Amino acid sequence: MKSLQINKVLSGQLASRNILLRPPEPDPKILVSRPSSSIYIGKTLFCRVPFFWDPRKLVNPHLCVVGITGSGKSYFIKTFITRARLVLGASALILDWAGEYSSWVWAAGGRVVDFGRNGVNMMDLGGQKPHVRARQVISALCMLTDLGNYPEQIRITEDAMLECYRRWKSPTLKHLLFLLGKRQKQSEAHRICARRIRNLLLASGESFCSSKLKISSISEGLVCIDLHSLPTEEQRSLAGLTILQFLKESMRLSSYSENPFPRLFVVVDEAWKIASDERSDVISIVREGRKYGFSIIVASQNPSDVHKSIFSNSGTTICFRLTLDSERAYVRSSLSYSQNYEELSHSLGVGQALVHIETATPAQCSRDFILKVDGEPLAEFCRLRGGGMDISLERSELLRQLHLFGLSEKQAAIVLAKFEKSSLSMEASEFVRILEGFGFARPTIISLLRELGAGEKQLLEVFSNLRMAGSEGKVEFELSEKEESRKEGKKRGANAARKQNSP
Ligand SMILES: Nc1ncnc2c1ncn2[C@@H]1O[C@H](COP(=O)(O)OP(=O)(O)O)[C@@H](O)[C@H]1O
Ligand SMILES: [Mg+2]
Repeated sequence: MKSLQINKVLSGQLASRNILLRPPEPDPKILVSRPSSSIYIGKTLFCRVPFFWDPRKLVNPHLCVVGITGSGKSYFIKTFITRARLVLGASALILDWAGEYSSWVWAAGGRVVDFGRNGVNMMDLGGQKPHVRARQVISALCMLTDLGNYPEQIRITEDAMLECYRRWKSPTLKHLLFLLGKRQKQSEAHRICARRIRNLLLASGESFCSSKLKISSISEGLVCIDLHSLPTEEQRSLAGLTILQFLKESMRLSSYSENPFPRLFVVVDEAWKIASDERSDVISIVREGRKYGFSIIVASQNPSDVHKSIFSNSGTTICFRLTLDSERAYVRSSLSYSQNYEELSHSLGVGQALVHIETATPAQCSRDFILKVDGEPLAEFCRLRGGGMDISLERSELLRQLHLFGLSEKQAAIVLAKFEKSSLSMEASEFVRILEGFGFARPTIISLLRELGAGEKQLLEVFSNLRMAGSEGKVEFELSEKEESRKEGKKRGANAARKQNSP
């Protein structure tokens, strides 16, 4: 039997051995948790250990996500939130700057709220004393306008705000403008203050005066606040900041949570103006959120737009590919990972990230590793709307129902293609027209719609609207279908010719 030999090897030779060049990964005891009470994210690059995000093992439940555009930040957030809702039953509130989450939230069965149409009353007290709320509004205006540079204007605006609270029961920015307008002859500073509020109102319409958006209703379930319909970055940030201010106050009014799992994830993606400012409530929620069961996920393509205290107070940092040295240096100055990982972070692929975790108890092992995010394809829901109807059906279920009702493969494919063309949403009247174009009689279409979940009242409304609109749509559709079949015929002819010509 061959005995085990111990060789003397020079350290230089040792270092050249590949296995020793692999940087250490955290202890699997830290990375792996029960799938029923943690969130699976992906596998480590070297040892292929699955990483389950478990807030019980982390110093806090906040996440900071950075990486260039297209590196996988939003994909990771969507995957994470989907699983957090499934496994932990957590709620999620997404402040959607670019309108990139709304279709996913809708497809995932959540609620999309258009801020432009709903809005919040910026001067709502939200359960606070007038002088506290006035300070918060001033602080938001200082962050996003030039007000911060003029102490006299701050005093004038704040005085007028307090006067509004004394005079009216629930004042809005319109009341503030009314008072400032009356005082504008007193000085140039008064005039500028009035102009600032007037400009804000002119640009945002009712968005910052209406009280339609209730904080209690947006902090339950999966909710996306679509801010991208607001015309400027300042307004989007003002809306985001105001929501976060109200959210923080409602958080502080709630009792401490004994549960180690967050009950609400708040997502702020590409919110550079409010993630970089010390006065922003992103930072207050990062500092205080854990004890109330709040977790914040801050994502940005530029790490230097994320305030240092967000990095240093996040239990999990997910750093996707960064191309600029200065940005990598900024991240490294906050997290101090090894040179090995620094080098590896230069060549990350899409969905790969350098992860840093801060463990709840001190750990002797590495707290850095490279991870490939393991996403899952989302269920796609098709939505039929109109006439008071709002039906959503999983794509494959809709396909099954269409076949059951006698649509051919090709007809069902045309219907689905129509859904896909319009972000998986279609007017019920359009749906009826398409089926009529295929030659289906109205009673058959009505039974199909009933089967899909339409109520009698809704059917009545859809069909009476159709009657009023006439049959223009039907003709148009019939024409395009004929064109399709002509193209199909041509293709078949060409294929047959090709076959004949081939040896
Ligand atoms: N982990 C992943 N696995 C597979 N595909 C991914 C992954 N991460 C990102 N992608 C793909 O890359 C695209 C861009 O990712 P996205 O998350 O939108 O980038 P970012 O938000 O960083 O700009 C996504 O649409 C998705 O198709
Ligand atoms: Mg994104």
